Amino acid sequence: MTAEVTAAVEALANDDVVVLPTETVYGLAGSIESEIALRKIFQIKNRPLLDPLIVHILDGSWIERCAYIDGIEQQVHALIEAFWPGPLTIILKKKPSIQMLVTSGLDTVALRCPAHETFREVLKKFNIPLAAPSANPFGYLSPTTAQHVRDTLGNKVKVIVDGGKCTVGVESTILNLASSLPCIARPGAISAGDIADTLGTMVLDYKPELKNFSVPGQLPQHYSPHTKLKLFGIRDDVRNIMDTHHDEHAAYVCLRRTADVSNRNDVYWLSEDGDYKVIASSLFNMLQTLDGAHYDTIYCQCPENIGIGLAINDRLSRAAAKFVEK
Ligand code: TXA
Ligand code: MG
Repeated sequence: MTAEVTAAVEALANDDVVVLPTETVYGLAGSIESEIALRKIFQIKNRPLLDPLIVHILDGSWIERCAYIDGIEQQVHALIEAFWPGPLTIILKKKPSIQMLVTSGLDTVALRCPAHETFREVLKKFNIPLAAPSANPFGYLSPTTAQHVRDTLGNKVKVIVDGGKCTVGVESTILNLASSLPCIARPGAISAGDIADTLGTMVLDYKPELKNFSVPGQLPQHYSPHTKLKLFGIRDDVRNIMDTHHDEHAAYVCLRRTADVSNRNDVYWLSEDGDYKVIASSLFNMLQTLDGAHYDTIYCQCPENIGIGLAINDRLSRAAAKFVEK
Protein backbone atom coordinates (compact mmCIF):
# COMPACT_ATOMS: atom_id res chain seq x y z
CA MET A 1 0.00 0.00 0.00
CA THR A 2 1.39 3.41 -0.90
CA ALA A 3 1.90 6.21 1.60
CA GLU A 4 -0.82 8.18 -0.18
CA VAL A 5 -3.39 5.43 0.34
CA THR A 6 -2.40 5.15 4.01
CA ALA A 7 -2.77 8.93 4.43
CA ALA A 8 -6.19 8.84 2.75
CA VAL A 9 -7.47 6.01 4.94
CA GLU A 10 -6.21 7.76 8.07
CA ALA A 11 -7.91 11.03 7.10
CA LEU A 12 -11.19 9.21 6.37
CA ALA A 13 -11.03 7.51 9.76
CA ASN A 14 -10.72 10.98 11.32
CA ASP A 15 -13.93 12.33 9.75
CA ASP A 16 -12.01 14.14 7.03
CA VAL A 17 -12.54 14.15 3.25
CA VAL A 18 -9.97 13.19 0.61
CA VAL A 19 -9.68 13.52 -3.15
CA LEU A 20 -9.34 10.20 -4.97
CA PRO A 21 -8.94 9.30 -8.63
CA THR A 22 -11.62 7.27 -10.41
CA GLU A 23 -11.72 6.14 -14.04
CA THR A 24 -14.39 8.79 -14.79
CA VAL A 25 -13.49 11.98 -12.88
CA TYR A 26 -11.76 12.74 -9.56
CA GLY A 27 -14.01 12.36 -6.52
CA LEU A 28 -14.19 14.18 -3.17
CA ALA A 29 -14.71 11.24 -0.82
CA GLY A 30 -15.99 10.93 2.73
CA SER A 31 -17.25 8.06 4.89
CA ILE A 32 -21.00 7.48 4.55
CA GLU A 33 -20.99 6.87 8.31
CA SER A 34 -19.51 10.26 9.22
CA GLU A 35 -21.97 13.13 9.31
CA ILE A 36 -19.02 15.48 9.81
CA ALA A 37 -17.32 14.27 6.61
CA LEU A 38 -20.58 14.39 4.64
CA ARG A 39 -21.18 17.98 5.71
CA LYS A 40 -17.62 18.88 4.68
CA ILE A 41 -18.28 17.51 1.18
CA PHE A 42 -21.23 19.87 0.71
CA GLN A 43 -19.38 22.83 2.25
CA ILE A 44 -16.17 22.41 0.27
CA LYS A 45 -18.00 22.09 -3.04
CA ASN A 46 -20.57 24.73 -2.09
CA ARG A 47 -23.11 22.10 -3.16
CA PRO A 48 -26.81 22.40 -2.32
CA LEU A 49 -27.97 19.78 0.20
CA LEU A 50 -30.72 18.69 -2.19
CA ASP A 51 -28.14 17.20 -4.58
CA PRO A 52 -27.70 13.53 -3.50
CA LEU A 53 -24.29 11.83 -3.40
CA ILE A 54 -23.18 8.61 -5.11
CA VAL A 55 -22.03 5.86 -2.72
CA HIS A 56 -18.88 4.01 -3.83
CA ILE A 57 -18.46 0.36 -2.90
CA LEU A 58 -15.79 -2.29 -3.47
CA ASP A 59 -17.95 -4.91 -5.14
CA GLY A 60 -21.46 -6.38 -5.40
CA SER A 61 -21.23 -7.97 -1.96
CA TRP A 62 -21.39 -4.48 -0.40
CA ILE A 63 -24.79 -3.71 -1.95
CA GLU A 64 -26.65 -5.34 0.91
CA ARG A 65 -25.08 -2.88 3.36
CA CYS A 66 -26.80 -0.05 1.51
CA ALA A 67 -29.82 -1.14 -0.55
CA TYR A 68 -32.62 -3.67 -1.09
CA ILE A 69 -32.66 -5.66 -4.31
CA ASP A 70 -35.64 -7.93 -3.56
CA GLY A 71 -37.33 -8.95 -6.80
CA ILE A 72 -34.55 -7.56 -9.02
CA GLU A 73 -31.67 -9.79 -7.89
CA GLN A 74 -31.14 -11.25 -11.37
CA GLN A 75 -31.05 -7.86 -13.08
CA VAL A 76 -28.61 -6.47 -10.55
CA HIS A 77 -26.32 -9.49 -10.79
CA ALA A 78 -26.31 -9.35 -14.58
CA LEU A 79 -25.30 -5.67 -14.46
CA ILE A 80 -22.55 -6.30 -11.90
CA GLU A 81 -21.20 -9.16 -13.99
CA ALA A 82 -21.16 -7.04 -17.14
CA PHE A 83 -20.12 -3.59 -15.92
CA TRP A 84 -18.59 -3.59 -12.41
CA PRO A 85 -16.07 -2.38 -11.56
CA GLY A 86 -16.68 0.41 -14.05
CA PRO A 87 -18.58 3.59 -14.92
CA LEU A 88 -22.14 2.44 -14.11
CA THR A 89 -24.07 3.82 -11.13
CA ILE A 90 -27.26 2.01 -10.13
CA ILE A 91 -30.12 3.65 -8.19
CA LEU A 92 -31.82 1.23 -5.77
CA LYS A 93 -34.20 1.39 -2.78
CA LYS A 94 -32.07 2.45 0.17
CA LYS A 95 -31.70 0.79 3.55
CA PRO A 96 -32.47 2.88 6.65
CA SER A 97 -28.79 2.81 7.64
CA ILE A 98 -27.94 5.26 4.84
CA GLN A 99 -27.99 8.80 6.23
CA MET A 100 -30.43 11.37 4.85
CA LEU A 101 -27.51 13.64 3.99
CA VAL A 102 -26.23 11.10 1.44
CA THR A 103 -29.51 10.75 -0.43
CA SER A 104 -30.93 14.25 0.16
CA GLY A 105 -33.89 12.66 1.88
CA LEU A 106 -34.83 10.38 -1.05
CA ASP A 107 -35.75 6.76 -0.37
CA THR A 108 -33.24 5.60 -3.00
CA VAL A 109 -29.44 5.41 -3.05
CA ALA A 110 -27.04 5.58 -6.01
CA LEU A 111 -24.34 2.86 -5.89
CA ARG A 112 -21.18 2.73 -7.94
CA CYS A 113 -18.18 0.39 -7.97
CA PRO A 114 -15.20 2.36 -9.31
CA ALA A 115 -12.50 0.65 -11.38
CA HIS A 116 -9.49 2.81 -10.47
CA GLU A 117 -7.07 0.67 -8.47
CA THR A 118 -6.15 3.44 -6.02
CA PHE A 119 -9.79 4.10 -5.13
CA ARG A 120 -10.30 0.36 -4.72
CA GLU A 121 -7.30 0.06 -2.39
CA VAL A 122 -8.72 2.81 -0.19
CA LEU A 123 -12.13 1.10 -0.09
CA LYS A 124 -10.55 -2.27 0.73
CA LYS A 125 -8.51 -0.85 3.59
CA PHE A 126 -11.17 1.51 4.97
CA ASN A 127 -13.95 -1.06 4.58
CA ILE A 128 -16.78 1.51 4.71
CA PRO A 129 -18.59 2.81 1.58
CA LEU A 130 -17.51 6.28 0.46
CA ALA A 131 -19.79 9.07 -0.71
CA ALA A 132 -17.97 10.87 -3.51
CA PRO A 133 -19.22 13.60 -5.82
CA SER A 134 -16.93 14.98 -8.49
CA ALA A 135 -14.14 17.02 -6.85
CA ASN A 136 -15.04 20.39 -8.39
CA PRO A 137 -16.66 23.52 -6.98
CA PHE A 138 -20.42 23.09 -7.61
CA GLY A 139 -21.31 24.12 -11.16
CA TYR A 140 -17.72 24.19 -12.50
CA LEU A 141 -16.02 21.80 -14.96
CA SER A 142 -15.39 18.30 -13.58
CA PRO A 143 -11.75 17.42 -12.78
CA THR A 144 -9.95 14.75 -14.79
CA THR A 145 -6.45 15.35 -13.36
CA ALA A 146 -5.18 15.90 -9.81
CA GLN A 147 -3.88 19.30 -10.96
CA HIS A 148 -7.43 20.44 -11.81
CA VAL A 149 -8.41 19.65 -8.23
CA ARG A 150 -5.35 21.42 -6.78
CA ASP A 151 -6.22 24.49 -8.89
CA THR A 152 -9.80 24.72 -7.63
CA LEU A 153 -9.99 23.03 -4.19
CA GLY A 154 -6.29 22.81 -3.29
CA ASN A 155 -6.56 25.06 -0.24
CA LYS A 156 -9.61 23.20 1.12
CA VAL A 157 -8.55 19.54 1.05
CA LYS A 158 -5.40 18.19 2.69
CA VAL A 159 -5.14 14.82 0.95
CA ILE A 160 -5.31 14.82 -2.85
CA VAL A 161 -4.22 11.47 -4.25
CA ASP A 162 -2.80 11.69 -7.77
CA GLY A 163 -3.86 8.72 -9.88
CA GLY A 164 -3.03 10.15 -13.30
CA LYS A 165 -5.41 11.29 -15.99
CA CYS A 166 -8.93 9.80 -15.80
CA THR A 167 -9.34 7.38 -18.69
CA VAL A 168 -13.10 7.72 -19.28
CA GLY A 169 -13.30 11.47 -18.64
CA VAL A 170 -17.07 11.89 -18.19
CA GLU A 171 -19.06 10.87 -15.11
CA SER A 172 -20.63 7.44 -14.77
CA THR A 173 -23.87 6.46 -16.47
CA ILE A 174 -26.67 6.56 -13.88
CA LEU A 175 -29.28 3.83 -14.27
CA ASN A 176 -32.46 4.03 -12.20
CA LEU A 177 -33.58 0.53 -11.21
CA ALA A 178 -35.95 1.84 -8.54
CA SER A 179 -38.43 3.11 -11.16
CA SER A 180 -41.04 0.96 -12.89
CA LEU A 181 -38.88 0.66 -16.03
CA PRO A 182 -35.06 0.80 -15.97
CA CYS A 183 -34.14 4.28 -17.15
CA ILE A 184 -30.98 6.28 -17.78
CA ALA A 185 -30.91 9.31 -15.48
CA ARG A 186 -27.49 10.56 -16.63
CA PRO A 187 -25.73 9.43 -19.82
CA GLY A 188 -22.14 8.17 -19.60
CA ALA A 189 -19.74 5.73 -21.22
CA ILE A 190 -22.15 2.79 -20.86
CA SER A 191 -25.14 3.29 -23.14
CA ALA A 192 -28.82 2.36 -22.78
CA GLY A 193 -28.25 -0.16 -25.57
CA ASP A 194 -25.37 -1.86 -23.68
CA ILE A 195 -27.61 -2.13 -20.61
CA ALA A 196 -30.68 -3.35 -22.54
CA ASP A 197 -28.53 -6.08 -24.14
CA THR A 198 -27.39 -7.22 -20.70
CA LEU A 199 -30.83 -7.08 -19.06
CA GLY A 200 -32.74 -8.39 -22.05
CA THR A 201 -35.42 -5.77 -21.31
CA MET A 202 -36.30 -2.32 -22.53
CA VAL A 203 -34.33 0.57 -21.02
CA LEU A 204 -35.61 4.13 -21.27
CA ASP A 205 -32.78 6.20 -22.67
CA TYR A 206 -31.82 9.66 -21.47
CA LYS A 207 -33.74 12.41 -23.28
CA PRO A 208 -31.67 15.60 -23.80
CA GLU A 209 -34.84 17.68 -24.17
CA LEU A 210 -35.91 16.62 -20.66
CA LYS A 211 -32.58 17.51 -19.07
CA ASN A 212 -34.15 20.01 -16.71
CA PHE A 213 -36.19 17.23 -15.09
CA SER A 214 -33.81 14.26 -15.14
CA VAL A 215 -32.35 13.85 -11.64
CA PRO A 216 -32.07 16.04 -8.56
CA GLY A 217 -29.01 18.24 -8.62
CA GLN A 218 -28.33 17.91 -12.36
CA LEU A 219 -29.11 21.53 -13.13
CA PRO A 220 -29.51 22.78 -16.70
CA GLN A 221 -26.50 25.01 -16.00
CA HIS A 222 -23.57 22.93 -14.81
CA TYR A 223 -19.97 22.04 -15.65
CA SER A 224 -19.40 25.66 -16.80
CA PRO A 225 -16.01 27.25 -17.45
CA HIS A 226 -15.54 30.90 -16.47
CA THR A 227 -14.75 31.74 -20.10
CA LYS A 228 -17.73 32.12 -22.41
CA LEU A 229 -18.44 28.78 -24.13
CA LYS A 230 -20.28 28.55 -27.47
CA LEU A 231 -21.12 25.37 -29.33
CA PHE A 232 -21.14 24.46 -32.99
CA GLY A 233 -22.32 21.37 -34.82
CA ILE A 234 -20.52 18.37 -36.25
CA ARG A 235 -21.45 19.48 -39.76
CA ASP A 236 -20.39 23.10 -39.29
CA ASP A 237 -17.12 24.09 -40.93
CA VAL A 238 -14.82 25.61 -38.31
CA ARG A 239 -13.51 28.09 -40.92
CA ASN A 240 -16.99 29.60 -41.19
CA ILE A 241 -17.15 29.97 -37.41
CA MET A 242 -13.76 31.71 -37.48
CA ASP A 243 -14.81 34.04 -40.31
CA THR A 244 -17.88 35.19 -38.41
CA HIS A 245 -15.98 35.75 -35.15
CA HIS A 246 -12.56 36.90 -36.36
CA ASP A 247 -12.55 40.00 -34.15
CA GLU A 248 -12.73 37.98 -30.91
CA HIS A 249 -9.81 36.48 -29.00
CA ALA A 250 -11.27 33.01 -29.36
CA ALA A 251 -10.19 29.37 -29.15
CA TYR A 252 -11.72 26.83 -31.54
CA VAL A 253 -12.05 23.24 -30.34
CA CYS A 254 -12.76 20.65 -33.04
CA LEU A 255 -13.65 17.00 -32.54
CA ARG A 256 -10.78 15.87 -34.78
CA ARG A 257 -7.63 17.32 -36.30
CA THR A 258 -8.63 19.42 -39.29
CA ALA A 259 -5.68 19.64 -41.68
CA ASP A 260 -6.49 23.08 -43.17
CA VAL A 261 -6.46 24.90 -39.83
CA SER A 262 -4.34 22.69 -37.56
CA ASN A 263 -1.32 24.98 -37.86
CA ARG A 264 -3.19 27.92 -36.29
CA ASN A 265 -2.40 28.49 -32.63
CA ASP A 266 -6.02 29.16 -31.68
CA VAL A 267 -7.26 25.79 -32.99
CA TYR A 268 -7.39 22.68 -30.77
CA TRP A 269 -8.73 19.19 -31.30
CA LEU A 270 -10.15 16.62 -28.87
CA SER A 271 -8.92 13.62 -30.90
CA GLU A 272 -6.83 12.90 -33.98
CA ASP A 273 -9.49 11.04 -35.90
CA GLY A 274 -12.87 11.66 -34.24
CA ASP A 275 -12.92 8.65 -31.87
CA TYR A 276 -15.73 9.45 -29.36
CA LYS A 277 -14.01 7.67 -26.46
CA VAL A 278 -10.88 9.77 -26.93
CA ILE A 279 -13.02 12.92 -27.27
CA ALA A 280 -14.78 12.12 -23.96
CA SER A 281 -11.50 11.51 -22.16
CA SER A 282 -10.01 14.84 -23.28
CA LEU A 283 -13.13 17.04 -23.01
CA PHE A 284 -12.93 18.43 -19.44
CA ASN A 285 -9.13 18.56 -19.59
CA MET A 286 -9.25 20.69 -22.75
CA LEU A 287 -11.93 23.04 -21.40
CA GLN A 288 -10.13 23.49 -18.09
CA THR A 289 -6.82 24.23 -19.85
CA LEU A 290 -8.41 26.75 -22.19
CA ASP A 291 -10.32 28.32 -19.29
CA GLY A 292 -6.95 29.28 -17.81
CA ALA A 293 -5.58 30.59 -21.11
CA HIS A 294 -7.23 34.04 -21.21
CA TYR A 295 -9.47 33.59 -24.22
CA ASP A 296 -12.66 35.68 -24.44
CA THR A 297 -14.64 32.81 -25.95
CA ILE A 298 -14.20 29.07 -26.50
CA TYR A 299 -16.03 27.63 -29.52
CA CYS A 300 -16.46 23.87 -29.16
CA GLN A 301 -17.79 21.36 -31.67
CA CYS A 302 -20.47 18.86 -30.56
CA PRO A 303 -20.55 15.19 -31.60
CA GLU A 304 -23.65 13.26 -32.60
CA ASN A 305 -25.95 11.87 -29.91
CA ILE A 306 -24.63 8.35 -30.46
CA GLY A 307 -23.09 6.16 -27.70
CA ILE A 308 -20.90 8.27 -25.42
CA GLY A 309 -21.66 11.24 -27.72
CA LEU A 310 -24.93 11.61 -25.77
CA ALA A 311 -22.93 12.10 -22.55
CA ILE A 312 -20.48 14.52 -24.21
CA ASN A 313 -23.36 16.63 -25.56
CA ASP A 314 -25.13 16.52 -22.20
CA ARG A 315 -22.06 17.99 -20.47
CA LEU A 316 -21.38 20.50 -23.25
CA SER A 317 -24.95 21.80 -23.42
CA ARG A 318 -25.06 22.31 -19.64
CA ALA A 319 -21.59 23.91 -19.69
CA ALA A 320 -22.69 26.37 -22.38
CA ALA A 321 -26.19 27.02 -20.96
CA LYS A 322 -25.23 30.05 -18.93
CA PHE A 323 -23.77 31.74 -22.02
CA VAL A 324 -26.81 31.29 -24.24
CA GLU A 325 -28.09 34.72 -25.25
CA LYS A 326 -31.75 35.11 -24.47
O1 TXA B 1 -18.48 9.10 -12.23
C1 TXA B 1 -19.08 9.50 -11.24
O2 TXA B 1 -20.23 9.11 -10.97
C2 TXA B 1 -18.37 10.50 -10.32
C3 TXA B 1 -17.17 9.83 -9.66
C4 TXA B 1 -16.49 10.70 -8.65
O3 TXA B 1 -17.55 8.60 -9.11
N1 TXA B 1 -19.28 11.05 -9.34
C5 TXA B 1 -20.24 11.96 -9.68
O4 TXA B 1 -20.93 12.47 -8.59
O5 TXA B 1 -20.46 12.30 -10.81
P1 TXA B 1 -21.77 13.84 -8.68
O6 TXA B 1 -22.06 14.19 -7.29
O7 TXA B 1 -21.04 14.85 -9.46
O8 TXA B 1 -23.11 13.43 -9.35
C6 TXA B 1 -24.03 12.68 -8.62
C7 TXA B 1 -25.40 12.75 -9.21
C8 TXA B 1 -26.30 13.76 -8.52
O9 TXA B 1 -26.16 15.04 -9.03
C9 TXA B 1 -27.67 13.20 -8.79
O10 TXA B 1 -28.10 13.70 -10.00
C10 TXA B 1 -27.42 11.70 -8.93
O11 TXA B 1 -26.04 11.51 -8.97
N2 TXA B 1 -27.93 10.93 -7.78
C11 TXA B 1 -27.28 10.54 -6.66
N3 TXA B 1 -28.11 9.85 -5.83
C12 TXA B 1 -29.30 9.80 -6.46
C13 TXA B 1 -30.56 9.23 -6.15
N4 TXA B 1 -30.77 8.57 -5.02
N5 TXA B 1 -31.57 9.38 -7.03
C14 TXA B 1 -31.38 10.06 -8.18
N6 TXA B 1 -30.20 10.61 -8.55
C15 TXA B 1 -29.19 10.49 -7.69
MG1 MG C 1 -20.54 16.51 -10.48
